Amino acid sequence: MENEYCLIGPISQLITLAGLAEKGPLKDEVLQPILEGGILVRGELIYKIGRYSELLEDAEALNATKLVLEGHYVCVPGFIDAHTHICFAGSRANDYAMRNSGKSYLEIAQAGGGIWDTVKATRKATEAELTAMTTARANRHLQEGVTTTEVKSGYGLSVAEELKMLRAIAAADQETEADLISTCLAAHMLPKDFEGTAEMYLKQISDELFPLIQKENLTTRVDAFIEQGAFSPELIGPYFVMAQQYGFSITVHADQFSAGGSAVAVNFNALSADHLEASADLEINLLAGSEVVAVALPGASIGLGCAFTPARKLLDAGGCLAIASDWNPGSAPMGDLLLQAALLGTFQKLSNAEIWAGITFRAAKALNLYDRGQLAPAMLADFNLFATANHQEILYQQGKLKPAQVWKNGRCVYSNLKNEL
Ligand code: NIG
Ligand code: FE
Repeated sequence: MENEYCLIGPISQLITLAGLAEKGPLKDEVLQPILEGGILVRGELIYKIGRYSELLEDAEALNATKLVLEGHYVCVPGFIDAHTHICFAGSRANDYAMRNSGKSYLEIAQAGGGIWDTVKATRKATEAELTAMTTARANRHLQEGVTTTEVKSGYGLSVAEELKMLRAIAAADQETEADLISTCLAAHMLPKDFEGTAEMYLKQISDELFPLIQKENLTTRVDAFIEQGAFSPELIGPYFVMAQQYGFSITVHADQFSAGGSAVAVNFNALSADHLEASADLEINLLAGSEVVAVALPGASIGLGCAFTPARKLLDAGGCLAIASDWNPGSAPMGDLLLQAALLGTFQKLSNAEIWAGITFRAAKALNLYDRGQLAPAMLADFNLFATANHQEILYQQGKLKPAQVWKNGRCVYSNLKNEL
């Protein structure tokens, strides 16, 4: 039987991100890479981390398997994408072309396109088909270093169809080596075929879907899209009260086109408020003074051709900033977290440390996970190796340098040592 201990190294620069502040600005000096480092893994977890030469002695004593790396590698924690909608069917390539020809996201939605178009395609797909598509996207993400991916429902928009989506996400989680964290986004928009008011729809969801989700253990998280054309803060208040009575954590699509959602997120002590492209100083200060993680979604800004989330201001005000891909067929079709985080960094003047924090331990906080996002003893052994000697190369190459190896739960789940400079 294979020894449960495994030593990986030597690693030219090992960025652990351990012990860094959960909120506020970070200077690159805090990165302090371990030079010629190594990781001693025990089962799924990190057992010890440090200088390779020292870990070699432990490895001998423990009779550990050794994975000796030849050439230069930089190691960073596995990436965490705290906001995606990768459980969907169909394509919105036509919406994208229409937007680029001058129509707005909200105009397209009002004309019957937008989210509703994806709802129709997703309802037509079987649970097995959705499982397969979600798994394929999660696996593509995993190869690009994303070891934990949040996945929302929200293209079903009825009790039965939302259940189908959440079951598909749970099944995909069993299929992929990545961890999938699901979220119920039944409050994405009022479905066009619902006979009744938005209030009646939300009541039906909380009365009928919440108990089923809880019974089947399908998710612990509830999200809502607070926006003109979606749901108002007044309507979402009672919905979130119900969600909290069931013990669900709250997260919000907030301040995407107009401000309002972030205040709801703060009032409900949400885990995160995501989007925030339209947040002004009032919302920025409100979020920064709270424990709510502010999640920037540069993929949506790039997909819609609009302003980035004021990430610099959020950090300077003392906030906790995570960066997620929002991968979805409408606003954010690209789904490349590293590339998007790197671009947000250039436009918002973020340090490398702030970018790494945003896609690792600060993103983990948005998912209420404290066992990942930093490399330290007893944390999950989720990490990426890049074929370079200088960690700055990774963000400098703006996402085009992909991991040479991805490790999840102490196992190498992807290897392409040809991914070099
Ligand atoms: O996060 N803003 C609302 N929801 C998604 C978009 C979903 C879609 O367009 O299909 C978002 O951008
Ligand atoms: Fe989203």
